[in-house]
Amino acid sequence: MENLKAQINKNNVPDHIAIIMDGNGRWAKLKGKQRVFGHKHGVESVRKVIEGCADIGVKYLTLYAFSTENWNRPKLEVKTLMSLLVSSLKKELKTFQKNNIKLNAIGNIQSLPEKAQKELAEAIEKTKNNTTLTLTLALSYGSREEIVNVIKNISKKVVNNELQFEEINENIINNHLYTFSLPDVDLMIRTSGEQRISNFLLWQIAYAELYFTDTFWPDFKKENLFKAVLDYQNRERRFGKITEQIENINE
Ligand code: IPE
Ligand code: IPE
Ligand code: MG
Repeated sequence: MENLKAQINKNNVPDHIAIIMDGNGRWAKLKGKQRVFGHKHGVESVRKVIEGCADIGVKYLTLYAFSTENWNRPKLEVKTLMSLLVSSLKKELKTFQKNNIKLNAIGNIQSLPEKAQKELAEAIEKTKNNTTLTLTLALSYGSREEIVNVIKNISKKVVNNELQFEEINENIINNHLYTFSLPDVDLMIRTSGEQRISNFLLWQIAYAELYFTDTFWPDFKKENLFKAVLDYQNRERRFGKITEQIENINE
C-alpha cells in the first residue's frame, strides 16, 4: 500500500472526491448475514477512506450515505441505518478531531430523526474550526430535490425584487445549492459494480471523472482509494479543449 501511495503525484490530487458507497447489502448476503451487518462494516471503510484522503491531501470528501429514495426501503432497515448514523457520529468524533476534519452535511436534514439531527449538529459544531479535510455527509439527499429547492428559492428572490431575472447565472445557482461552500467534484467513485449516479450531485459532477469499481463498499479500503486516485491521475481533463491546449497552458 505504501508503494501505491508513493506513486501518487502530490501536485495532481483531486481537490474534491465524492463517493457513492454501494454494495453493503450484497456483501453481507454473500457472507450469509443480514444487510445491516454490511452497513456496520461499511462504517469501517468510511474511517479508512477519510484517513486515506487526509494522508494524500484531498481537501473535500463527500459521501452518499442515504438518498431521498432510500426512505422507501423496509422500515427496519431505515431505522437501523438511522441508529447507525447516530452511533457512528458519536464514535467517529475522535477520528475527526485526530485528523483535523471538519464535518458538513447536505440533504433534507430536517427529515432525519431528531436524535440524528442533534448528533449531527453537535459534531458539526465541535469540528467547525478543523482545516485539513471537509467531510460532507449526504443524508436524505436527492439531487433533483436539491435543484427544485434552488429554483424555488431563486424565484422567490426574483418575485420579491431581491434579484433581477437577468442576474441569474451559473454562479447564482451554485450559491443556492446545498453544496454552495464546496468546489465542483473532481473524482466521483461508485463501488459495487453498478454504473449509475442514482440522483447524486447531478449539477456538481458536470466535469467530474467517473470511476467505477466492482469492490463492495465494506471491502473498499485505503489502497482502493489510492488506486482510484492513480487512475484519475492518468486521465487528461480537457474541459472541452484539445490536447495541445492542455499541454501548453499559455494557449
Ligand atoms: C449502500 O449499500 C448503502 C446505502 C444505500 C445506505 P446498499 O444497502 O445499497 O447495498 P446493496 O446495493 O443492496 O448491495
Ligand atoms: C445509492 O445507492 C445511495 C447511496 C449509496 C446512499 P442505492 O443502492 O440506493 O442505489 P440504487 O437504488 O441501486 O440506484
Ligand atoms: Mg445499493
